[in-house]
Amino acid sequence: LGAQSAGESPTGDSSPAPAATTALTVLYGSQTGNAEGVAELAAERARAKGFEVTLTSMADAGKKTLKTVERLLVVVSTQGDGDPPDPALEFHELVMGRKAPKLTGVRFAVLGLGDASYEHFCQTGKEFDARLAELGGERLRDRADCDVDYEERAEAWIDEVLESLAGDLATPPPAQVAETDAAQGAQPSYSKKHPFMAEVLTRQPLNGRGSDKQTLHLELSLEDSGLEYLPGDAVGVVPQNDPAHVDELIAMLKLDAESPLEEGRVLRDALLADFEVTTLTRPFLKQWAEWSQAPELQRLLGDEARDELRDWLHGRQIIDVIEQFPVDGIDATQFSAALRKLPPRLYSIASSQAAASDEVHLTVAVVRYETHGRARNGVTTSYLADRIEPGDRVPIYIDRNKQFKLPDDDEAPLIMIGPGTGVAPFRAFLQEREERGAGGDNWLFFGDRHFRSDFLYQAEWLKWRQQGLLTRLDVAFSRDQADKVYVQDRMREQAERLYAWLETGAYVYVCGDAEFMAPDVHQALRDIIREQGGHGEAGADDYLRQLQQEKRYQRDIY
Ligand code: 2AM
Repeated sequence: LGAQSAGESPTGDSSPAPAATTALTVLYGSQTGNAEGVAELAAERARAKGFEVTLTSMADAGKKTLKTVERLLVVVSTQGDGDPPDPALEFHELVMGRKAPKLTGVRFAVLGLGDASYEHFCQTGKEFDARLAELGGERLRDRADCDVDYEERAEAWIDEVLESLAGDLATPPPAQVAETDAAQGAQPSYSKKHPFMAEVLTRQPLNGRGSDKQTLHLELSLEDSGLEYLPGDAVGVVPQNDPAHVDELIAMLKLDAESPLEEGRVLRDALLADFEVTTLTRPFLKQWAEWSQAPELQRLLGDEARDELRDWLHGRQIIDVIEQFPVDGIDATQFSAALRKLPPRLYSIASSQAAASDEVHLTVAVVRYETHGRARNGVTTSYLADRIEPGDRVPIYIDRNKQFKLPDDDEAPLIMIGPGTGVAPFRAFLQEREERGAGGDNWLFFGDRHFRSDFLYQAEWLKWRQQGLLTRLDVAFSRDQADKVYVQDRMREQAERLYAWLETGAYVYVCGDAEFMAPDVHQALRDIIREQGGHGEAGADDYLRQLQQEKRYQRDIY
């Protein structure tokens, strides 16, 4: 047998594949596509070096994958609370569980994606890394834990890992591979690094008078960009920090705004455009503890103070640390080196290109609050709300989301659950279905605080309901009565009908808050399935897992 692709070899008690093969499996667990993108790059580079590469999503991986694998690269992201991405849940359970196969002789490396401002940073990557070793695998390379500005780190890791494997290749790679790739990569496209400057055509408030929220409807021009998107995709906005905030930081640090940094950049410009200057990360805190030698900060970072640190961090930002623990003599270069790159922010697209042609629409909730005596503004939302005007241009790119897609089947019923700005992609879904003349039933659950002021896109839903495109519309206005009413309460009220829809093949989409709403909605779905389907707890979980497997339960949560 030659170098069969590892993921597809037969299982059973056949002897392990001979070491002379060049099989390499790249396995990814991805929620929004970042981990998938890194995995694709790893696969591409490995192929160029001469490996026989199998690229597999954890959604499609199982015991067989593990039993036949020889060299394994795992790229996996972590959700907010330290959980694996939805499509990786089952595989993660398998690997962590007692029935996981031995991995003796398997050489592996793990790259985790995450956000260093979260306590359980890269948790899923850490778990895979530890477990693969425990199962007998041989670690090729230290795990990489990548923060939101992951690209460079990830590329370096890929190259290092492949370098460690170079000895496995008997012959040098075919020289033409790289050239072919370069030739194919010629099509122009905008990205994080090379965003398109999109003109802001309109910016309208979506909340009425008296609302305690500020939600904006933005229409951006894609004219001449060649950019394309599908319902479910997101727009990445490359923001600028608030100049007033940057100036306050510079003054607090007693630095000169014009201090030169590398590549002709000066401090103020770099703090405006290149670095994140608000969100605290643990690496920053550690660095600051070292510089300040402040006993209190050092104590907070100790193992015994974990819970205390979590509470202390709540509502605090970089500026609070600098203010509370002053440091003298840090220069501009040192300070900027302690910061992470300013990550773009993603917004679920609220339009269908079929309807909006060369425009893209966004629904943006402006983040403003006060903590520890300071007014706080969301970096990107205040940029979009306060610092740009219609007629200005904003740097954007399209961020594909393969995990949140309309079914190909136009007749399939949709159940859409989107409170607050979570409703954005469902406007896109309905526009698209209207354009396509799709005949499937559509059911929307929307929720917000007040009917009078917060019924986002009310006229559009009502128009669609009248036309029959929207089959059902259930709304939950949480603060219009003494007791809170949420979308999941409306779902429970409609349990029988909702289950009947599931049984006829409905697709369920959930978009919006990941911390409270999505788990509560998940629980409601579970209960509905259990009660209406006469399933037990385990049966309901199996039912949901099956839905997930069939891509009939998709979430875009943040
Ligand atoms: P609240 O702010 O009155 O608590 C959009 O933000 C809507 O989602 C609001 O009506 C908000 O209600 C509601 N919401 C808050 N927590 C929720 C949860 N756990 N599940 C569902 N909806 C929630």
